[in-house]
Amino acid sequence: MVHYEIEGGHRLEGECRIQGSKNAVLPMMAAALLQRGTVILHNCPRILDVFCMIRILEHLGCRVDWDGHTLLIDAYELRGCAVPREEAKKMRSSVILLGALLGRRRRAVLCCPGGCVIGERPIDLHLAALSSMGAEICQEEEDICVETGGLHGARICLRFPSVGATENILLGAVLADGETVIRNAAREPEIMELCRLLRQMGAKIAGDGTARICVQGVRKLHGTEITVMPDRIVAGTYLLAAAGCGGSLYLPEAPVRQLACLRRLYACWGMTWREKGGSLYVQSAGDYPAVRYVETRPYPGFPTDLQSPLAAVLLKAKGESCIRETIFESRFRAAEEFRKLGADVQIAGQLCRIRGREKLRGAVLDAYELRGGAALIVAGLMAEGASVVRDEGFLERGYEHIVEDLRGAGAALTCRRSLPTAAK
Ligand code: UD1
Repeated sequence: MVHYEIEGGHRLEGECRIQGSKNAVLPMMAAALLQRGTVILHNCPRILDVFCMIRILEHLGCRVDWDGHTLLIDAYELRGCAVPREEAKKMRSSVILLGALLGRRRRAVLCCPGGCVIGERPIDLHLAALSSMGAEICQEEEDICVETGGLHGARICLRFPSVGATENILLGAVLADGETVIRNAAREPEIMELCRLLRQMGAKIAGDGTARICVQGVRKLHGTEITVMPDRIVAGTYLLAAAGCGGSLYLPEAPVRQLACLRRLYACWGMTWREKGGSLYVQSAGDYPAVRYVETRPYPGFPTDLQSPLAAVLLKAKGESCIRETIFESRFRAAEEFRKLGADVQIAGQLCRIRGREKLRGAVLDAYELRGGAALIVAGLMAEGASVVRDEGFLERGYEHIVEDLRGAGAALTCRRSLPTAAK
């Protein structure tokens, strides 16, 4: 258990470097399986989800080495095609290994993927798409077994622009026979990052970043080297913390183009937002109006991963705000925790209404998932006095050094680790 101890009520002032993107690097790691050479990923975050993916790749026969923040994946010799059960349960993104393993091994076995508890999270879109590309799927109790004599191109129209399903289709399609067209594809920047890597590996892909992606299968892919983009959700978390606490923050390498949704919020709050090249400077007086209505949407809409940190900021906004969560069905656990700080929050189904309060008071809060956990830290920083966020390791799945980053910006935040009771 990790205890984040916060002395809140102070302004943030300083500079933060943003780590490499978790959601970009995980599918890139899966993509490394599609070739027999070495894929080198620079700016790879050292976070639990990456460690989990490394253990899976090693189990499958890859040799994986770190050199600082560079990850080297040698996939010359693959042994297996089964993702170890205990790792798959920890991390939902293990599902994207299906497409990659089918492409390289023609067979994949995966137990139903786990990850953050933020709703039902089915994988029907992944399975239907792979099936239309020539995969046979059978489900045995907890395990999904997928096999093919060779994937072929297909025309796939997704019911919803699922990020993971789009990635899985891409990973299957690059080595499939013929052309695959994905309609209603996800347009997230992380999809474009995956395509950038796959193209460097020799894949033929067009249209990424739009809702129609076209892939011409090739016979072989090769190793390459790439720098992972900065994490827009980590950057967004810090920018929201600065908005809520007041003060100023400088991000020397910010994914500015991908944060347009926050630029718009900063404008409606009357705060400073200055972009120069790839850097960003923001300033907040810590005094801002409510946001009448925001809903989470697939990119370029407001990201569901920043919904909880935004809700934290709105706890002290002047007036009533309303957030509708449209992507996941149970993502208001953090909002419920906010009440312990004296916040006025009402949740009804997918709607969360927040009446801003002038002051919040510190409390002991429990993290239930990754981004919700980060939001509790933001709220703790905004509250007067001491708060503690108790976390069973969710935050370290995605944030490499949230304590150091926010401390560097003047936050009074420390982290204390306690052993699980049985290990004491
Ligand atoms: C990815 C991100 C996650 C982010 C989410 C939405 C990674 C590792 N994770 O998750 O941080 O919150 O995108 O931007 O990149 N759905 C189905 N059937 C499917 C697949 C998805 O119904 O087969 C539904 C889900 O239940 C959910 C919605 O589609 O309601 C979005 O899911 P999806 O875009 O697939 O998210 P992930 O790829 O899991």
